[in-house]
Amino acid sequence: MLLGVNIDHVATLRNARGGIEPSVIKAAEIAEENGATSITTHLREDRRHIKDEDVYTLIKTLKTRLNLEMAMADDIQKIALEIKPHSICLVPEKRQEITTEGGLDVAGQTEKVSEFIKPILDAGIIVSLFIDPDEAQVKASAKTGAQFIEMHTGTYSEMFGTDKEEVEFLKLKNSAELAQSLGLTVNAGHGLNYQNVKRMHEIPGLFELNIGHSIISRAVFTGLPEAVCTMAELIK
Ligand code: PXP
Repeated sequence: MLLGVNIDHVATLRNARGGIEPSVIKAAEIAEENGATSITTHLREDRRHIKDEDVYTLIKTLKTRLNLEMAMADDIQKIALEIKPHSICLVPEKRQEITTEGGLDVAGQTEKVSEFIKPILDAGIIVSLFIDPDEAQVKASAKTGAQFIEMHTGTYSEMFGTDKEEVEFLKLKNSAELAQSLGLTVNAGHGLNYQNVKRMHEIPGLFELNIGHSIISRAVFTGLPEAVCTMAELIK
């Protein structure tokens, strides 16, 4: 398994004072030097953390891959087509949410999703759909032309250590198996930390885990090199 590091919360900290510190560009560089195989950023419609200039710079400075998380918004699609990240991950977005809540409803809008991602695929950018580990969502995703799904691990992460952990874990395992049988490559992420990440090894064939909050939080105490390195070791 590979580790994609989400650096959004370095930008959250930077924006708290409106200046340039800490640098998301430097954070990406350190993450890459310590085991990240890609860098993820979510260019939200309200630009609450990552800003346009961040992605325009990252695309030039990254040594690995840029995975751009984005909603189905025309202005963000335009930016994606201009900078051409290695991949985009389509996520649902609500203005008032603190973080991405739940997966994209691909089953309820399969045609709309297919149409939205078509120019992105035509530009040679890999498309991943961030969905809940649910049979209908996986089957619908396979019909859109997207090559990847990213399974939302938020509920599993929340239920980790409780009597609901197993049910949530099995949803992930079964969805990954179904997706792979339909020709999709499977990533996972959201809410993963240094404890609950270990069970991801029980899901065969997972390609990459995208992890942000727990790594940036640990980095406050241990430094970013150690935080990335330890996570990379756990999932290797
Ligand atoms: N994957 C997706 C699609 C996300 O939206 C997020 C949060 O931005 C993550 C992964 C990373 O989640 P976390 O910050 O909880 O590790």
